[in-house]
Amino acid sequence: MADPVLHDLTVIVLAAGGGTRMRSKTAKVLHPIGGRSMVGHVLVAVHGCAPRRVVAVIGHQRDQVGAHIAELAPEALLAVQEEQAGTGHAVRVGVEAADAREGTVLVAYGDTPLLTAESLRAFVAEHEAAQRAVSVLSGVVDDPFGYGRVVRDEDGEVVAIVEQKDASTDQREIREINSGIMAFDAAFLHEALPRLGNDNANGEYYLTDLLGLAREAGLTVGAHPIDDVRQTEGANDRAQLAELGRELNTRIVERWMREGVTVMDPATTWIDADVVLAPDVVLLPGTQLLGATVVGEDAVIGPDSTLKDCEIGAGARVVRVHGELAVVGEQADVGPFSYLRPGTRLGERGKIGGFVETKNAVISAGAKVPHLSYVGDAEIGEGANIGAGTIFANYDGVAKHRTTVGRHARTGSNNTFVAPVTIGDGASTGGGTVVRGDVPAGALALSAGPMRVIERWAQQRRAGTAQAEAAARAEGSGEGSGGAPGSA
Ligand code: UD1
Ligand code: CA
Repeated sequence: MADPVLHDLTVIVLAAGGGTRMRSKTAKVLHPIGGRSMVGHVLVAVHGCAPRRVVAVIGHQRDQVGAHIAELAPEALLAVQEEQAGTGHAVRVGVEAADAREGTVLVAYGDTPLLTAESLRAFVAEHEAAQRAVSVLSGVVDDPFGYGRVVRDEDGEVVAIVEQKDASTDQREIREINSGIMAFDAAFLHEALPRLGNDNANGEYYLTDLLGLAREAGLTVGAHPIDDVRQTEGANDRAQLAELGRELNTRIVERWMREGVTVMDPATTWIDADVVLAPDVVLLPGTQLLGATVVGEDAVIGPDSTLKDCEIGAGARVVRVHGELAVVGEQADVGPFSYLRPGTRLGERGKIGGFVETKNAVISAGAKVPHLSYVGDAEIGEGANIGAGTIFANYDGVAKHRTTVGRHARTGSNNTFVAPVTIGDGASTGGGTVVRGDVPAGALALSAGPMRVIERWAQQRRAGTAQAEAAARAEGSGEGSGGAPGSA
C-alpha cells in the first residue's frame, strides 16, 4: 500500500436495498456493467484501499448477493440487515458485524461502478489528516433533486446534511450534495450509532444525522467535494445503468488510448474493465473486447468483432469474428465471419478463414482452415491445410469424438471426417472424400466413386424445360455432348 496513513481501515459496503426501479429478478448491485457487477466494481475499488476489514451489508435477495460477494471477495464479512430501516441502521449492522472500534470506518454504496480506489484513498487520507469524527465526500451537481444537501454556515463549516424530503425551500437550492460516501472515526461511530433517531420524513435512521451528534460533542466534521462527481453516481434503473455503462466505457477506452492503443472509433468500441491490451494494438470500429480478454502487441481487431475471454497473440489479425474462450497465436489470421467457440487454440501464423466455426479444436502453428468449414473436437498438426467446405463430424448422435489430422497433411475440398478418425502426417485426401477410417501417413485417401456421364440426359429427361432448351442450343452450336469445342 502506497499510503501509510491507512493504518486501520474498515470498509462497509451498503447493498441491502431493494432496487425496485430495476424491475428485475436480479438484485440491483449484481447487474453487470463493463464486465463486472456493480458491486464488483466497488469491491475492486475498496480492495485498492488495502482495508483491514470489509463488511457487506446485505438484505434484499441476500442469498444471491451474498454468494456473489463471497465469490469476489472471500475475505469480506457478510452482515444481514433484516429490514431496511435506513443508512444509519445499515451501518450499525455493519459496524457490529466487524466489531470496528478503532481506526477509520469508510462507508460506500454497492451501486457506484465508476468509483476508483484512488478517490477512496484520497478521501480517507484527507479524513484522517484532518482528524475528523465525520467526513462527507460531497459533490456539486446541476440537479441536486433527491440527494441529501450539505448545509454550511456563514464560515463555510458543515452544519448538517438535510435529506430531500426534510429540506426547506431554501435548502433545496443547495447544489452541494452528499455522495453517500462517508468516513468516520470508528470509536465515535460505535458510540454514536445507537443514539440515532428516526424522527424524520422517511421514518428512517439517517447515517447523515451523525454530523449533528459529532458537532454536539465538539468533534470536527467536514465535507470535501469530489471533482469527478460521476464516480459517486449510482444506477437505480436500467436507463441510468446504460448511461453509466457508456461513461465507464468512455473512461476505459480513453485509458487504453493513453497506454498506446489505437481506437479508430471510440463510440463503437467496448472494452470491459478486466481486459488487458498491449501497446500498438489497433481496434477497428464495432469491436467489443469482453471479460478477461488479453490482446498482444500490434494485433489488429475488427471491424465488427466480439471477443469474450479470448487471448489474442501479438501481430494477429482478427476480422469480423465472434470468439469466446479461444486462443489465437502470434501473427495468426482469423476471419472474416468466423465463429471461435470455447477451446479453440490457433497456433502461430495459423489461419481460420471465412465462414469457419471451430470448437475444442487445436489448429497448430502454420495450419490453415481457410474456408467454409466446421472443426469440432479436433487436433490439426503443424502446417496442415484443410480443404474448403470440410466438416469434422464429431457427433454420432450420442457422443462426441475427436479427429486428428497430421503435420503437413493436405485434405481435399468438401471432405467429411467421421470421428473418431486419424489422418497421418503428410497424408492427403481427394475432393469430396468421406473419411470413415484412419489414413496412414503419406497416403492418399479417396472415397468418392468415379464420375459417370450420361449423355443428353437433360434433353431426354427434362424435355420442355429451360434447362433442356439450353442444352439443345449448346448441342446445335457444337458445344453439346462432345465436351470442349473442337473435341467433337
Ligand atoms: C442517501 C443519503 C443521501 C445521499 C444519497 C446519495 C442518507 C440518510 N441519505 O440517500 O444524503 O445524498 O444517499 O445517493 O444516508 N441501504 C441499505 N439499508 C438501508 C437503507 C439503504 O443497505 O436500510 C443502502 C441502499 O441499498 C443504497 C444506499 O444504502 O445502496 C443508499 O440508500 P438509499 O435509500 O438509496 O438512500 P437515499 O435516500 O438515496
Ligand atoms: Ca439512492
